[in-house]
Amino acid sequence: MYRIESKIDTKSNEFKKHQKEFQNILDEYKQRLKSVINGPSTRAIEKHKKRGKLLARERINLLVDPNTPFLELSTLAAYGEYDNQFPSAGIITGIGVVQGRETLIIANDATVKGGTYVKETIKKHVRAQEIAMENHLPCVYMVDSGGVFLPEQANVFPDRFDFGRFFYNQARMSAAGIPQIAIVMGSCTAGGAYVPAMSDETIIVKDQGTIFIGGPPLVKAATGEEVTAEELGGADVHTSISGVADHYANDDRHALQICRNIFETLEFKKKQELELSEIEEPYYNPKELYGIAPIDLKKPVDAREIIARIVDGSKFQEFKARYAPTVITGFANIMGYPVGIIASNGVLFSETSLKGAHFVELCGKRNIPLIFLQNITGFIVGKEYERKGIARDGAKFVHAVANVNVPKFTVVFGGSFGAGNYAMAGRAYDPRMLFMWPNAKISVMGGEQAAGVLIQVKQEQLAARGQEMEKKEIEKLRNSILEKYEHEGSAYYSSSRLWDDGIIDPADTRKVLGMSIAMSLNKPFEKTEYGIFRM
Ligand code: COA
Repeated sequence: MYRIESKIDTKSNEFKKHQKEFQNILDEYKQRLKSVINGPSTRAIEKHKKRGKLLARERINLLVDPNTPFLELSTLAAYGEYDNQFPSAGIITGIGVVQGRETLIIANDATVKGGTYVKETIKKHVRAQEIAMENHLPCVYMVDSGGVFLPEQANVFPDRFDFGRFFYNQARMSAAGIPQIAIVMGSCTAGGAYVPAMSDETIIVKDQGTIFIGGPPLVKAATGEEVTAEELGGADVHTSISGVADHYANDDRHALQICRNIFETLEFKKKQELELSEIEEPYYNPKELYGIAPIDLKKPVDAREIIARIVDGSKFQEFKARYAPTVITGFANIMGYPVGIIASNGVLFSETSLKGAHFVELCGKRNIPLIFLQNITGFIVGKEYERKGIARDGAKFVHAVANVNVPKFTVVFGGSFGAGNYAMAGRAYDPRMLFMWPNAKISVMGGEQAAGVLIQVKQEQLAARGQEMEKKEIEKLRNSILEKYEHEGSAYYSSSRLWDDGIIDPADTRKVLGMSIAMSLNKPFEKTEYGIFRM
């Protein structure tokens, strides 16, 4: 592999101006993260602590091995929704190392509306379980939740991927040999009672944890029976009488220690082997990405400049460097792991798609994880290209990406528009992880293009009736579309709705990818089988 030679002058005014502009984007991102992490009210936090309970993130810190990082996912879920009353959607999810094993942790945040579930909370919980299933990660559920946020019941209860899916997933994972462990650290009411009940092993905390299908008020209303929460479903009842829980803990810390002890008894599973290289920091400082990351998406960015600041030693073995330059393909290492990189470098043409599909095949055959770096406006349009079969060649690329069975990881570093999103392993293509940079944008097409299409359609409609649109009306329509696309296309809008696994600081990209690759190796790669490539 050779070292990429950067062509960027980091001392130039242009670079410094860009860096300054990006710093504003980064500051806003960090401020939003902070506002969410400090989101719950002081009153709720004090009440929680007074009960002798630790906060959700504190619990996680005590569960994971000392001095190991926790990869928190979708911190900005539900951001901008419900008057920001659900910071992080009231649930913390992520991957941490417990007794040396990458583990998926799901922790209710009881300081957010009693840990109840709105739509985004559900999506985040189900997405976390999906990650565990796809990568064979043991699951720890730290339960402290009032169940469904009742005013939102229609958005959380009945559908396929709603509340009921949690327990289905637990049963399926348990059957697949993926350990399911619950720590009951607060309420587990109604449907929520099934999280501990469906787990392989369950710990419950004295005076704090309760598990019941109907709480005391419901029991009183239904049968007239008067009973305290503790009598109905406390730690003592469940560990000595009902058998719904297996381990009795004196407090949060004790419960977390019991959970760590359980991990010592889990079956050892063989991981996918990869040939590792020694970890080397990039030759070019990752912080220089702040001066390069696309802000104005109309300005092209050489993807090699991005790659150079993510991969080990900035070294890259480019594949087909002279051919179809609007996609960059090649091999590198990230945190010592071998990877194949496919990076957007412009619009997708027929030959770009063929190059992409060829490279996907190479990585599939060689068992090399794939990294997609997205900054894609879409496929080329026009008579010439349609006649040459852009849809046929694009389909080959999409087909290869959909079927290749090595883990895929996607980072949107600029734009993600149209079918380019599909070919470059967008959410629908099951990348094991998908992250956005704070400057990234995602929508079916750019706002300008969407406005152009809609104005055209409207004008044709009116023309058929012998009418025409006034200039003022055209401008009004254009502005409303531009505004809508600007709002809905932002990384925050995406992350709030769980279209991605989180927004990351560009300088952290290699670290985040390294952890993501590490966790993906828990599931040995399966053989790739392709279907019919349209020739
Ligand atoms: N739906 C909607 N809001 C709920 C809720 C629910 N199921 N459970 C709690 N909340 C809200 C409360 O109204 C309160 O809102 P506020 O902060 O705006 O005042 C907030 O969550 C905290 O509730 P609170 O009762 O003050 O906290 P707590 O820590 O003392 O108790 C629970 C938390 C979850 C144990 C308790 O609220 C409870 O039992 N809730 C009902 C649970 C239930 O029956 N769920 C059935 C769902 S299927």
